[in-house]
Amino acid sequence: MQMVLPGEGDMLKIDYRFAMNGLIGANGLGKKQLAAALKKAQAALKDLKARRDRGELGFATVLNDRAMVDSCAGLGKKYRGKLDNVVVLGIGGSALGPRALAKALLPHPLLKNQGPRLLACDNVDPEDLSEIFKIAFSGRSLFLAISKSGATPETGSQLLYVVNRLKKNYGKKWKEHLLVITDPEKGVLRKFADRHDLQSLPVPPKVGGRYSVLTPVGLAPAALLGIDPQELLRGATIIDEIVFSGKHKPCAAELLAALYWAFAAKGRNMLVMMPYSSKLADLSEWFAQLWAESLGKKFSLTGREVHAGTTPVRALGVTDQHSQLQLYLEGPSDKLVTFIKVEKFREHLDVPKAASGLEELSWLSGHSFAELINVEQFATSASLARSGRPSITISIPRVDAYNLGALFYLFELVTVLVASLWGINPFDQPAVELGKQYTASLLGRPGFEDKERELDRFNKKASRFLWPRK
Ligand code: PA5
Repeated sequence: MQMVLPGEGDMLKIDYRFAMNGLIGANGLGKKQLAAALKKAQAALKDLKARRDRGELGFATVLNDRAMVDSCAGLGKKYRGKLDNVVVLGIGGSALGPRALAKALLPHPLLKNQGPRLLACDNVDPEDLSEIFKIAFSGRSLFLAISKSGATPETGSQLLYVVNRLKKNYGKKWKEHLLVITDPEKGVLRKFADRHDLQSLPVPPKVGGRYSVLTPVGLAPAALLGIDPQELLRGATIIDEIVFSGKHKPCAAELLAALYWAFAAKGRNMLVMMPYSSKLADLSEWFAQLWAESLGKKFSLTGREVHAGTTPVRALGVTDQHSQLQLYLEGPSDKLVTFIKVEKFREHLDVPKAASGLEELSWLSGHSFAELINVEQFATSASLARSGRPSITISIPRVDAYNLGALFYLFELVTVLVASLWGINPFDQPAVELGKQYTASLLGRPGFEDKERELDRFNKKASRFLWPRK
């Protein structure tokens, strides 16, 4: 049960043996069940292809945007050797892609002389921000204000702070330290960039935040950090060809969407993303947002109340074998685990001969750490299988820009396909608006006064339920 994709040997593989009832028992899928799910996924893919061919699928259309990738690559060239820090002011889809890229593809930030590092301000915690700004303002930094809407208060407040400091530090030259990435036409950031003639790049209007890693949102920071944006797009483009050429039946996106959909239908409402690579830890963070915000929906496209979604769980192999795995094995049987396995690591490290006094550990000697991590991944999937807990293993040849681009794009397609199987809209996020409106009201933003009354209602009862009681 292994699917190998073309570009063979240099492309990801999906091993789904531990999803099938033959190996894991009744919690697994029968061949007929999988075939039925695949049929649905196939129909959904047909629709998706039609939308992509009509240019309606923004995150697919950008793969052919040469000007976009050239402008990002050009930016990388312009700043080569001139930066210590690339500082992202952004949150959600505007930060998680750059973070995943930097974590996967840059050396450890404490290693010396390795080029610029990424500092991501994706929170408004004053302690964390103060530290980041201390680092940023004591070195050569380019600040990237990234916001599709321009209206995000977290990014806005960081930008106000940074512009203020830049003006104080650099006077008239403040603009040289700022790059704006936002909608090409609309929003306060666009106005700001135009008014001051700032360097800026567009977020394509048809691409939403969590689908934007392969636009300037991810490609510009990548290029500035020395990561080749063309390679990211090359990986994504290969997946696009594989998925939409019809050569593979099922294609990788259909297969994963069918598996995810079928297990959700069987009541597995948790989806664990567990790469066996520290470098891919932030890919799980990126995936969690994509999956949760796209698929957690109250209403279907026809207005039916469905409360769709499965909860993404971030885990890291092997680390979480000593943390969460006990729960996965013996706790509620509600999870489907996706492992990501790396076939070839970029560094080779062996476990040496045991020193005297450590002979009991000599069974480890002579094995490489790569062998150890991958053996542990298989052992974990097999032990889950033994307990009747399903898993899927996606293997990538190595952690590089090409394979990362492939994974980003594949997961985007799979998410949209699953949304289609559930009959929901994967591109909106209506529920998070209310919290934003409450915040605006609490901070006294004009136009949000009506929300004050709603909040008063909550505050009235609060004192009765406080500990310690007054
Ligand atoms: O996926 C999304 O649309 C969101 O998570 C956004 O990325 C996030 O809210 C930030 O929005 P913006 O880029 O408009 O600042």
